[in-house]
Amino acid sequence: MQKAAPSRVTETVTAPRRVSVLGATGSVGRSTLELIGLADRPHTVVAVTANRNAKRLAELAVAHGAETAVLADPAHYRELRDYLSGTGIEAAAGSEALVEAASRPADWVMAAIMGAAGLRPTWAAVQQGTRVALANKECLVSAGSLFMQAIGERGTTLLPVDSEHSAAFQALDGSRPENIEQIILTASGGPFRTWDMNQLRSATPEQALNHPNWSMGDKITIDSATLMNKGLELIEAYHLFPVEPHQLDVVVHPQSMVHCLVQYRDGSALAQLSSPDMRTPIAYSLSWPERMPTSVERLNLAQISRLDFEPPDNDRFPALELARQALEQGTAACTVLNGANEVAVEAFLARNIGFLEITRLVAHALQGAEQAGLLVEPGDIDEVLVLDAAARQLARGLLNEYGHSST
Ligand SMILES: NC(=O)c1ccc[n+]([C@@H]2O[C@H](COP(=O)([O-])OP(=O)(O)OC[C@H]3O[C@@H](n4cnc5c(N)ncnc54)[C@H](OP(=O)(O)O)[C@@H]3O)[C@@H](O)[C@H]2O)c1
Repeated sequence: MQKAAPSRVTETVTAPRRVSVLGATGSVGRSTLELIGLADRPHTVVAVTANRNAKRLAELAVAHGAETAVLADPAHYRELRDYLSGTGIEAAAGSEALVEAASRPADWVMAAIMGAAGLRPTWAAVQQGTRVALANKECLVSAGSLFMQAIGERGTTLLPVDSEHSAAFQALDGSRPENIEQIILTASGGPFRTWDMNQLRSATPEQALNHPNWSMGDKITIDSATLMNKGLELIEAYHLFPVEPHQLDVVVHPQSMVHCLVQYRDGSALAQLSSPDMRTPIAYSLSWPERMPTSVERLNLAQISRLDFEPPDNDRFPALELARQALEQGTAACTVLNGANEVAVEAFLARNIGFLEITRLVAHALQGAEQAGLLVEPGDIDEVLVLDAAARQLARGLLNEYGHSST
């Protein structure tokens, strides 16, 4: 018996898609450009951006035929211009140029700048109103309500790129909120999952950067070691999906193959599984609602033979609970949590504080912000940036109090 061909959800479109990659030189940015190069459908790269890495940005711009390449740091403009001389690719630098690049009409924009530095460019990408693939979780942590409101008003399609949120997006598949009981994010537990407090006290940046499963930028890798990354992801999930904070949970899963489970009210739990490789969620955001081929290693469950799960240990890794508290307190607390955490991670990488002091510093900054009356809900992105700057100042002041020089 011949089987009828299944009807397609969407037509295959062959017109080139215009795409931009913000944070192109980073771990997510480079994987994105690699996938764009492999996609069935032709793509025109509009803008690629970075902070200071002029050489790598120029190489990527040339390799992908970008229209413009933009650095956030104007001190490296000449270098970029010289690398791009004679290629016909525009070179620009500075925060305004970055926002202008993100605002250029494009069908799809990857937002993969690291940290709160991504707020303004991602905001600009959202305002131009097409598809935004969101890797930069700090945008939703610091300004989630404002972003989601703007996305609703502009009719922008937001596609989550964080592996757990991409997994939830796939497992939810547009389900009605009343059907969802819980969203359970998985956490690898990072390199220190089995370490005791004494070992954690003397953990070095090299040890913290040695993630067992994922290859990522430095900041998110340190966040994974403290479990702050999972805390930021809880806040991100709250804004992305129709759930309340008590419906979000975390389970440690050292193999990082199950990325998220959605528990439904009838007792079904739908999970998404894949190898720990960011190319899978990036590819899904690029091809959604279709799927594109990738060379990501396939899961061989018989070979893997077992998957482990355990509860997170809040005594050794208090960052997760701290983020949960900030989520309960509101946007201002989340903005302070994020800004203070970025300062603390930088200080740890510069060996100015120890590993356990990262979360301690963030907790003190949150207390300080509350005592100083700073936890007032920001009304717009400018107010978020003012609060973010105040949180950083507070955190740097604490670094000095701890007896360490600020970064
Ligand atoms: N890596 C992952 O697997 C992963 C997974 C989920 C979510 N994410 C999220 O995706 C984002 C990017 O992560 P990543 O690991 O790709 O980071 P990364 O490797 O450190 O790359 C960061 C990118 O942002 C640029 N950048 C840094 N500071 C900037 C600034 N002040 N202004 C403008 N651009 C700036 C960098 O440019 P330069 O090269 O010039 O410094 C680089 O292009 C983060 O928000 C992270 O939480 C990452």
